[in-house]
Order: sequence, then structure tokens, then C-alpha cells
Amino acid sequence: MGIKSICVLGLGYIGLPTASLFAAGGYGVIGVDKDERVVNMINRGLIHIEEPGLNTLVRAAVNSGQLVAKHSPEAADAFIIAVPTPLTEDKKADLSFVKNAAESILPYLRAGNLVILESTSPPLTTQDFLVPILAQSGLVPGEEVLVAHCPERVLPGNILQELVNNNRIIGGINPASALKAREVYKRIVQGDIVLTDAASAEMAKLMENTFRDVNIALVNELCLVAAEMELDALEVIRLANMHPRVSLHRPGPGVGGHCLSVDPWFIVEKSRQARLIRLAREVNDSMPYYVVERIRELVGDIAEPVVTILGVSYKGNVDDTRESPSTSICRLLQESGVKIRIYDPHVRNYEVEQSDFETACLGSDLIVVAADHQEFKYLAPAEIGVLMRHKRVFDTRNCLNTKKWEEAGFFAQVLGRKFK
Ligand SMILES: NC(=O)c1ccc[n+]([C@@H]2O[C@H](COP(=O)([O-])OP(=O)(O)OC[C@H]3O[C@@H](n4cnc5c(N)ncnc54)[C@H](O)[C@@H]3O)[C@@H](O)[C@H]2O)c1
Repeated sequence: MGIKSICVLGLGYIGLPTASLFAAGGYGVIGVDKDERVVNMINRGLIHIEEPGLNTLVRAAVNSGQLVAKHSPEAADAFIIAVPTPLTEDKKADLSFVKNAAESILPYLRAGNLVILESTSPPLTTQDFLVPILAQSGLVPGEEVLVAHCPERVLPGNILQELVNNNRIIGGINPASALKAREVYKRIVQGDIVLTDAASAEMAKLMENTFRDVNIALVNELCLVAAEMELDALEVIRLANMHPRVSLHRPGPGVGGHCLSVDPWFIVEKSRQARLIRLAREVNDSMPYYVVERIRELVGDIAEPVVTILGVSYKGNVDDTRESPSTSICRLLQESGVKIRIYDPHVRNYEVEQSDFETACLGSDLIVVAADHQEFKYLAPAEIGVLMRHKRVFDTRNCLNTKKWEEAGFFAQVLGRKFK
């Protein structure tokens, strides 16, 4: 029996682009979200998240009747679960959203259906967590209801392009499940579709982000080691990268976002052997403490120092502040009695009050660049210096032309450079 209708649970950064692409591909799509505001907006052809091209796609899908948003699921040939899998306080995967979503489809499951878990999950979640819930329907998973994990690896800001062109891993709980899931994605995916088992698919997704996290931890540790030895870490990296098989990353104030700083913990949670992966997380999570130590040194001679933080998103040119190192830096500075002022041209509604750029710099003793937004590369140090009480700048992203700042009378430091 061919797949004609799909029910997508969770209409966020992953679920909504997926649902609207499937609708554009000719499937009848029911998009389900718990959030009433999200459902109402989508049914009016509007979207609640920022993603280039998405509004046009959603509006066309809704106007053509191929996409309808609802509060609860309905019968369909395939179900796709794309709900959040955040980290708990004790660094474990919170699977409660997956549980609720899976339970909500039980009354609608019929023989011949396919259920796909897209949410990033710890290894064996599909087999050991999702399958027992689906079995409560009375249907036999792997026979009467097919089940697969199909992880997402898209880059926010380029999601529609990557959903179509990226290679896709599909892990079935058995080969029949993987083959059926391939049938669904084949209509929209132009990259390769690779079939495997569910646990390997879960682990592959987690290792992609872990690979990056561990490599960043390596250079962050080099930054700490070099400082201890009074060496210049950036010079060491430059020299080491001349080797044809070495490609060290760049140190930074920590690792944020909802993927790199979260996914490695899903492996740690499941394995006692994951020592390096845990350590890498700890090294990266320790970087805001190191940055704050350096900031305190830089304003150590000032009675009531005022520090300006430029950039609070977790990386440059995005508005996402989830798990951002800047948040830890701000909290640690405030706890140690340092007055902070914040400016970020991309972020609205941050948990700490923001100022406009001039107010953020007025009477300040130190500017700390914590996110490498494009705008910061074009700042005019001479004009900023006039506003400040002391002309000092600390670039934690190695994104400023510090020579220009020094020429304007600034004392400039860069994370990873030998401290003067
Ligand atoms: N955003 C990314 O760039 C990205 C990339 C790769 C993987 N992922 C993974 O994809 C999954 C979804 O992430 P996201 O960024 O789309 O999350 P999100 O927070 O943007 O959206 C999730 C949506 O699910 C809804 N929801 C929660 N419980 C529900 C339920 N029981 N039924 C229906 N809707 C429900 C929420 O209201 C929300 O609108 C996560 O596991 C995430 O780790 C995300």
C-alpha cells in the first residue's frame, strides 16, 4: 500500500519545514502542534519561526489544501515525530515530549502504518522506548506497524535547501521499516538515502555533533595549556595546521546552541566508556569561567568596573541564545559584582536587559566581543573610545582587526593570544 497521507507531530524548526516540503511533494499533510498559537498562525499561512523561504512554502501548502494544522493527530499512512528532546538538569535526554507524541497517535494507528522518529535521541530510543509505546496499540511493531529513526542534520538558516540536498540516514527497526521510510523521503530528498538499523542511525547523528564538540574542546584545552606556559595558542594552531593532515579549530568562549552542547550528553548517558566525550563537554563548559577570569584581570585595577558584552547569541549572525556561553559569562560577572551592559543586534528578548550600542559603551571600562556577528568587524574604535572610561577590548572570537583598535589607543586582548 503506497503512502499518500502523513501526520507530522511538532511544527517547530524541523517539523514545519518537513511538513510543508512533503505537502509541496504531493502528500496530504496534517501538521500537529500542542501550541494553539502555532496551529492558528500556520492555518492563516503565517509562520512563528524565522527561516528563509519557509513562509512562502507554508502559505502555498496551506492555500492548496495539502497542509492543514491541527491540535491533535488524525489517521494517516505515516506519522513523523519531530518534537523537542532537551537536556534535563542532570544532563539526560528528556523524552517526555516523544512519549506524549507517541501516545497521542495510538488511537489512530492502523495496520500498514509507518512511524518515523526524527527527534535527536539517545542510542536505542527507537527500539527500547518508542516501540513498546507503539505496541500498546495492539499492532505488532516491525510487522503490522513499521518503525524507523530518521535523524535531522540541517543547518538553521539553510533548512529548506539542506532538507532536499543533504544525504539522509534511515534506520529501521528491521529492513522492511527502513525500506518503507525510504519510500516517504524519496519524493523530496535529492541527496543519497542510506539505509541502516535504528540504533546506528541514532548514534551516527550524535557522533556528528560529538566530533565537532571534541575537536573544539581540543583547541580550547590548548588555549588553557598555552596560557599556563605563556605561549600564543593561535600561533601554535597556525603552525600545526601547516601539517597536511592537521586541521585544528579555533578556541572560543565555549560551545552553545541546542545541538553541539546537548547531543554528546545523550551518548554519555548511555555508556560508561564515553570518557573523552564527557571530558570534552566539561572542557567546553569550563570556558566561560576562564573568560571571566581574564575579564576580571583586565579590569582588576578599577574600583567599580563596567563591562560591555557585545553579542549574546551562541554564534555569529544568528538570534539563537540557547545554551549560549555569553549567558554563563554574564551570570558569572554579575555574581562577582561586575556591572555589565549588553548589546546584540540580532537578539530580541534576552534574559538580561539589553541597551542600544552607545549606552552599552558609555562609561564602560572594557568591551568583550562574545559573538562574532558580522556587524562587529566594522566597528569604529576611535568613535567608541570617546564614549568609554577606559579603552580596553577583549575579543573572545578572534574576529576584530585588533591593530585598528590599538591604533585608536585601545589595549586589546584576543582569546588564545599570549596575554600582555
Ligand atoms: N532545530 C534544529 O536545527 C535541529 C537540527 C537537528 C535536529 N533537531 C532535533 O529535532 C527535534 C525538534 O527540534 P526543533 O528545533 O524543531 O524543536 P522546536 O522546539 O522548534 O519545535 C518543536 C515543536 O513541537 C511541539 N510539541 C511538543 N510536544 C508535542 C506533542 N506531543 N505533539 C505535537 N507537538 C508537540 C512544540 O509545541 C514545538 O512547536 C529535536 O529533537 C532536535 O534536537 C533540531
